[in-house]
Amino acid sequence: MRVLITGGAGFIGSHLADAYLENGDEVYIIDDLSTGSLDNIAHLKEKGAYRKRLFVHIDSILNRDIMMELVGTCDVVHHLAAAVGVEFILDHPMESIKTNIQGTEIVLDLCNKFKKRVLIASTSEVYGKHTHAPLVETDNIIYGPSSKFRWSYAASKLMDEFMSLAYFRTTGLKVTIARLFNTVGPRQTGAYGMVIPRFIGQALKHEPLTVYGDGLQTRTFTYVKDVVWAFMRLVENDAAFGEVFNIGGIEEISMADLARRIVAATNSSSEIQLIPYEKAFGKDFEDMQRRVPGIDKIGKLIGFDPQTPLDAILAKVISSMRKRTDTI
Ligand SMILES: NC(=O)c1ccc[n+]([C@@H]2O[C@H](COP(=O)([O-])OP(=O)(O)OC[C@H]3O[C@@H](n4cnc5c(N)ncnc54)[C@H](O)[C@@H]3O)[C@@H](O)[C@H]2O)c1
Repeated sequence: MRVLITGGAGFIGSHLADAYLENGDEVYIIDDLSTGSLDNIAHLKEKGAYRKRLFVHIDSILNRDIMMELVGTCDVVHHLAAAVGVEFILDHPMESIKTNIQGTEIVLDLCNKFKKRVLIASTSEVYGKHTHAPLVETDNIIYGPSSKFRWSYAASKLMDEFMSLAYFRTTGLKVTIARLFNTVGPRQTGAYGMVIPRFIGQALKHEPLTVYGDGLQTRTFTYVKDVVWAFMRLVENDAAFGEVFNIGGIEEISMADLARRIVAATNSSSEIQLIPYEKAFGKDFEDMQRRVPGIDKIGKLIGFDPQTPLDAILAKVISSMRKRTDTI
């Protein structure tokens, strides 16, 4: 099978490429390296058997001509390319909206034209400001005002969901939407605000771990390989087309506790420092206090039941970041 992964040089995309190549499939990647890196796929290019089945295009999904060629060539598309991460969105407001809306429109239009199956990576951010748990796919959505720019990420991903569902309803496009909750693992960068690599990077350097707000906001974390497992099954499953699925872990932890756990796991001498949101992100920022997924829907369809505990995930990321730091 030929698989196109947009954003394949990114964190999740590169793990998805690993899995399909291991399966014996051909993998086509398009990535503009805005937040991704060739380092994420360098190991694949080194493996002789994989090299012949891996095709990498450094370009934007906004380039319709190259996208036409790639979607036309492949049997299935995983659309992961996006402007990602709160800090990146706040720093690149215009370009982020363009990539997330126009880019997805190109992907959907071409998948429809060539009748290809497609999975769209959405986000738990689309739920907005809920505090109840768990969040289920049919929940209402609550956003802040458009002056708070952090909501543009959620709103653009929600628009992607609407476009996908509109294609499904009007043309029968075989499209599935995956709402990812915080996904973590080796190769994720802390450069754009992702909390676990950011905290671990600080702990390994014995710098203060900077926790935003009062640190009582909670999240759950999913190991990237559990997410990849789910993506590969969802995109093949006829009952998943035209549907939205949460994909997330269930172990809830506050950011202050997470920081403490990382300090202990790294034997770091770092202190924990609370930073007001306004100081970290400016006045246009609002955070969600709690984000816990309901995973019954995906559990029933494909048996998704993430088994990697947070401590095991942290150990894997710490080990991979230690190796990277050693080589710098
Ligand atoms: N990691 C998470 O916790 C998480 C949570 C929710 C949703 N998601 C979604 O999963 C997907 C993958 O995220 P990730 O965590 O791997 O982030 P990532 O930044 O590592 O991956 C995104 C990739 O898309 C590429 N990209 C961005 N704009 C592009 C463009 N115009 N053309 C081509 N490539 C472009 C980037 O260079 C990067 O390699 C994204 O759609 C994101 O919204 C991730």
